[in-house]
Amino acid sequence: MADVNENDLVIATQGLTKRFKKITAVNGLDLSVRRGEIFGLLGPDGAGKTTTIRMLCAIMNPTAGWARVAGFDTVREAEAIKKRIGYMPQQFSLYGDLTVLENLTFFADIFEVGREAREERIPRLLGFSRLTGFRGRRAAHLSGGMQKKLALACTLIHAPDILFLDEPTTGVDPVSRREFWDILTELHLQGVTLFISTPYMDEAERCSRVALMFEGRIVVCDTPERIRGLVEGELLELRPDDLREAARRIEGLPGVLEVQTYGDLLHVFVDDAARRGPALQAALTEAGIAVAGLRRTRPRMEEAFISLIRRQQEETEYGTRSA
Ligand SMILES: Nc1ncnc2c1ncn2[C@@H]1O[C@H](COP(=O)(O)OP(=O)(O)O)[C@@H](O)[C@H]1O
Ligand SMILES: [Mg+2]
Repeated sequence: MADVNENDLVIATQGLTKRFKKITAVNGLDLSVRRGEIFGLLGPDGAGKTTTIRMLCAIMNPTAGWARVAGFDTVREAEAIKKRIGYMPQQFSLYGDLTVLENLTFFADIFEVGREAREERIPRLLGFSRLTGFRGRRAAHLSGGMQKKLALACTLIHAPDILFLDEPTTGVDPVSRREFWDILTELHLQGVTLFISTPYMDEAERCSRVALMFEGRIVVCDTPERIRGLVEGELLELRPDDLREAARRIEGLPGVLEVQTYGDLLHVFVDDAARRGPALQAALTEAGIAVAGLRRTRPRMEEAFISLIRRQQEETEYGTRSA
């Protein structure tokens, strides 16, 4: 029992950093992921997600700091890591001319999966990814969602218990995204550790813990619930007919903490929704702005992240100015 903690930590990094010529893509990451977690790495394009995953998968060496995966050092023991993990890159390359079944067999060859194991696994993976009926179809002729599922099945052919998925659902339709997540949930229930990057905030809700990455740094790392709890105030949502002017007017009102635009909606954080709602409505009416659908709503991950990134940017700006 003495080494339980160490065994439980399947991913650990300290000061993990990657610099390219001009930019620092990953800047001093300290992460720890326990066995069986669904860990989400969230962030916009260019945040450093892919670079982080490449270093964790022992494909790219860090400029500074270190990472251990499954107990192995990613630089000195890269081969041991590669055998134990599954990695689904952002641009996973299936062989378009090969059928579903042939793709699986091809990856079984690459990972040197023995005959007995593949005879058991291939039918199971086909069923698991809902592709049994399509096993004779060429990969190029599958829908986008099915290609992702096949890519996942290929990633699982050597039965890894740590899985790295780099934006597996980007560009996939909502129904396929949900199906894909159902499959990930099944893997999670089987005890697989999942490390998944995504630009979709709503997917963060399905993770056990989430790290928000922005410009190479982790802005916050916690459970979805606690991250939502970091947002101050109560949230009002409304649809004004003049978004910009409405935002400008609202920003100066008493009790308003933050205003975010969200499509054609305004999200307004206030200290007290019951009190500020009517005042806000009155101010807009007076300015000749029509307002529809004013209501109080619960902050989601999305609002929390926007708010936290803003705070980080303000701190950075302040830091630069005072330096
Ligand atoms: N091989 C590379 N050479 C130079 N810059 C790179 C390289 N790979 C990534 N970058 C840069 O590093 C930053 C982070 O990229 P990336 O890790 O791909 O972010 P994400 O996956 O979150 O979109 C970006 O500014 C990107 O342009
Ligand atoms: Mg990426």
